[in-house]
Amino acid sequence: MLTNKNILLGVCGSIASYKSASLTRLLIKEGANVKIVMTSDACNFITPLTLSTLSKNLILTEYFDPKTGSWNNHVELGLWADILIIAPATANTLAKFANGLCDNLLAAVYLSAKCPVYLAPAMDLDMWKHPATQKNIDSLISNGNFMIKPAYGELASGLTGEGRMAEPEEIIELISQELKKKLPLAGKKALVTAGPTYEAIDPVRFIGNHSSGKMGYAIAEELSALGASVTLISGPSALKLSDKSILRIDVTSAKEMLEASLSSFKGTDISILSAAVADYRPKEVSTLKIKKDSSSFELELVKTSDILTTLGQKKKSGQILVGFALETDNEVANAIKKLEKKNLDFIVLNSLNDEGGAFKNDNNKITIIDRDHHKESFDLKPKNEVAVDICKKVLDLLQ
Ligand code: CTP
Repeated sequence: MLTNKNILLGVCGSIASYKSASLTRLLIKEGANVKIVMTSDACNFITPLTLSTLSKNLILTEYFDPKTGSWNNHVELGLWADILIIAPATANTLAKFANGLCDNLLAAVYLSAKCPVYLAPAMDLDMWKHPATQKNIDSLISNGNFMIKPAYGELASGLTGEGRMAEPEEIIELISQELKKKLPLAGKKALVTAGPTYEAIDPVRFIGNHSSGKMGYAIAEELSALGASVTLISGPSALKLSDKSILRIDVTSAKEMLEASLSSFKGTDISILSAAVADYRPKEVSTLKIKKDSSSFELELVKTSDILTTLGQKKKSGQILVGFALETDNEVANAIKKLEKKNLDFIVLNSLNDEGGAFKNDNNKITIIDRDHHKESFDLKPKNEVAVDICKKVLDLLQ
């Protein structure tokens, strides 16, 4: 959620200032761009050198920087930020923010920022409980700031109570969750199938296909980036997900994929089935390795269940179901037949006649056909960009 986000971290003077070092490190690890404004008191608790090393940026403390001879423009800083985090936020700084005071760079940046502001207070128990502080907190919340409540525990004063700054990991998690809530697919459940299936012949052999799973994995990542909570049911694939919030269920055969899909489908808002499921499986699976005793060998195959058709029959109004069609001839007509037969909201057509697309490749060239048989063809592009086009179509349907 924080990748490539511009995060302005305000650090106030508190015994909890040391936690801002871990917070900075975690933000950088998440892929954020971090700039830091410290109050002069914060510099007594933790050195600017520590935070500049971790953030890979110069630390700003004053309006005018005598070292560089430049003006630290609070308006530009405020506008640069996608998110402003004040951690730790002291009683003094909260009071300044609540009352619009502007006697240091951090307070001026706060007043200039138009982005969401997250405040992580840290102070002693009695300071936190004081009606003046609580009044400031109420006023800051009603002004649209997000309060990351301090935790209960042992405080630097020796007292025990509420006042410890939230841990950096919690701050990151909370902010990520808040950002996710604002995404267009927030609150939606999505199911994606990807990869091939392997149908066992004996303990060492199987019938499979060339699918890499790249298209399905890219769709799962894109749906999650749009805020959906995603379950990915994957056939055998060496691919790894970069989004750790996606629930990945590994399966091998068409039967296992069907069972996993059926148990996830109820309550799913969006299902995109991109797996290259085997259409046939060996009728009998030998428990022992089959020996090459005879000059020829026949294998009886039986049909697997069509997962997409099964879900299409169970689909309730409001559930979006999307399938793929991989064709070599009569592409559009065959895709439309599948769209109708499998009760889909739209179908993504891949043609094996388009060079550089579909199986194993990093690129794909698709045509989306909807229920009105309206066709939209896209250029050959990387699969993650194809995933964006497919998910845009889903967003259009939801609107
Ligand atoms: N599919 C499925 N279960 C199967 C076979 C296919 O869910 N047993 C899904 C695929 O995930 C894809 C769509 O059906 O979304 C179309 O797959 P495709 O292989 O193009 O077509 P089939 O329906 O298998 O028909 P055919 O192989 O005869 O073209």
